[in-house]
This record gives sequence, C-alpha cells and structure tokens, in this order.
Amino acid sequence: MARVYNFSAGPAVLPEPVLKKAAAEMLDCNGSGMSVMEMSHRSKDYEAIIDGAEAHLRKLMDVPANYKILFLQGGASTQFAMVPLNLISKSGKADFINTGTWSKKAISETKRYGTANVVATSEDKNFSYIPKVAKEKFDAAASYVHITTNNTIEGTKYNVLPDTGVVPLVADMSSNILSEAIDVTKFGLIYAGAQKNIGPAGVTVVIIRDDLIGKALPICPTMLNYETHAKEKSLYNTPPTYGIYISKLVFEWMLEMGGVPAMEKINKEKAKFLYDFIDGSNLFKGTAAKEDRSIMNVPFTLPTDELTEKCLKEAKQNGLVQLKGHRSVGGLRASIYNAMPMEGVKKLVDFLKKFEGSNK
Ligand SMILES: Cc1ncc(COP(=O)(O)O)c(C=O)c1O
Repeated sequence: MARVYNFSAGPAVLPEPVLKKAAAEMLDCNGSGMSVMEMSHRSKDYEAIIDGAEAHLRKLMDVPANYKILFLQGGASTQFAMVPLNLISKSGKADFINTGTWSKKAISETKRYGTANVVATSEDKNFSYIPKVAKEKFDAAASYVHITTNNTIEGTKYNVLPDTGVVPLVADMSSNILSEAIDVTKFGLIYAGAQKNIGPAGVTVVIIRDDLIGKALPICPTMLNYETHAKEKSLYNTPPTYGIYISKLVFEWMLEMGGVPAMEKINKEKAKFLYDFIDGSNLFKGTAAKEDRSIMNVPFTLPTDELTEKCLKEAKQNGLVQLKGHRSVGGLRASIYNAMPMEGVKKLVDFLKKFEGSNK
C-alpha cells in the first residue's frame, strides 16, 4: 500500500527520510553490527547518539548553557506530576492558565502536592480562545506559572506569552515544540511528549533552567527528580534508547531543512492554506478564535454527524487519514506537524473542496 497522508494528533507522521534512514540502519547502525535497540545505553556507540540528540536540539532551539536538556519517559502526563514535585516547594503554590483538556490535567495533578490557582480560563467558550492575562493577575509569590502553549484538542495557541515577571514560566509544549522560533530564556521549564514534532512516543523532552533543579519535595521519588536525570545526563537508568535515536534523526532532518525558521515558514504557509479554505467555505467551520488559532492542530466542523462521518470515510478512501476530531470538539481535526508536507495539506484542501461541491 502507498503511504497515506496522516493527520493524526499523535503519535503522528514522521519525516520519510528519517524512516528510510532508520530502516537502512536497522540491522547495522554505524558499523556497530547491531541495531540501536540492541546496544547498551552505556556503550560508546550509544553515547554518541544521545549526545548528538542533545547537541542538535540545543542548536535547533538555541538553548542556552544554563539550561539542561533531559530525555525522560512517562509522556507529558508524567510531567503534570514531576513539575509540582520538583518546583512547587518554594511557596507551595502555582498559578495556571486553563486553556483546555491538557491544562486541566496539569492542574488536577498539581493539587496533590500543593495549591493550584487558576488565574484565567477559557472554559466558558469550550476553550476556543486564549485568555489574555495582565501581569498583576499573577501571584508574585507563586513558585511558577504553568501554561499549555498549544492546545492540541481545541486548536489554539499563544501568540503572545503572558508576562509573569520574575515568576518562572513553565510550558507544556508537547504539540508545538520546534514548530516556530521561541525564546527559551522566557521559560523556566519546557516539556514535551515526543510523539508529535520530535519522534516516537516513549520519549519526553524537558528543558530546565539550572536554578530550578535541586528543589524537589522530600516525597519526590528518585526517578521523578529532575536532579537525578540532570546529574546523569539522562542515563541514570535505561532511557528509551530507540526513541532517542529516532529523535536524533528527526533533529538532523530539521537541521538539513534549515532549522526552526524554515519549519516555521512552511508551517505558517500550510496553516494559512487550510484556514483560508475553511474561512471561505459554507460547509466547514473553524472552531477556534481566529487570533489564537494553532498552526499545528486545525479543528473544523460540519453541520451534521452524518456529513462528518461521510467526509471522514471519503477522506480515508483518498489516502487522507486520522482526521477525526476529538470528541470534546467534534468534527474533524487536521494535525499538520513539521513532518506533514505542503502537498499533504494541498491534497486535503482539494478533497474538502470537492466534498463541499458535491454536498451542498
Ligand atoms: C498538549 C499536550 N499535553 C499533554 C499530552 C499528554 O501527553 P502524553 O500522552 O505523552 O502523556 C498531550 C497528548 O496529546 C498533549 O497534546
């Protein structure tokens, strides 16, 4: 079967050259005579892989020397607990902006370890926008402020970061890391599950400023303490070795493509192409507020469930898959991560146009 255009929200499409390289190296990686999956994580061969992954990511995101990059496990969901376990001790409280399903989960997990104050929420409109929060609204004594920079399900993203003053900003960047240029110094901690813009599920990237390490609550398990992993360069125990290897290949692909600025340009073009069509359509309707729309996840609806089902079915017949929207928003959702080429988006728009024409 030919490869499809995969619009999954995650695990998501990976760059084809990366998959081909991994296939070519499956039986013998770099003259080692074995697959990466069979290598000791303490071997020289593997050390080159994990060090390379870190160096590439540091370069791609321009991560300053006073930040550690960690490759962890447990998905972004484990970070919902790790962040408070490690960072809340200063005051016992943290501020949150609630912008959707994933923010909510971060908030409820934090409540196990301290006070989670919701400073603003967009729940009143089904999380279809990003609340603007003035600096004075934040508690200057909070240990940190947590945001979800891109809301995978609701299709919104921050275009302007909140000004939290000296309070460290913590970001769940799972679904838009590496999609556009960001200033890492604006954040105390960034975390992201890999399975969208980085690599396969099973790897979680954490970028943390040095001064935030070493302040974990006494109850914090060793494996959930950032200090453990920072000290051992993500090799305290066996890391997700193959996932980190694929992530390294993805970073190499991105660097060859021109890095984050090149990705950002293509991502904005792809998103514009799709949103322009949706905005001009009489059948499809975008669900997110225009000024806060994500360039990674594009949710849109049809007037009836029947038409939605029909559209999904016909899309699949045309090699356009995993377009079903999340049940909390309904309709369709096209996730157009870095590895989705412009041709995929063009093919999608072409199909949607034809569908509209025959379902007036
Ligand atoms: C923004 C965001 N945060 C957190 C998660 C949860 O990630 P994981 O499944 O890696 O725990 C997801 C998953 O899609 C997500 O999109």
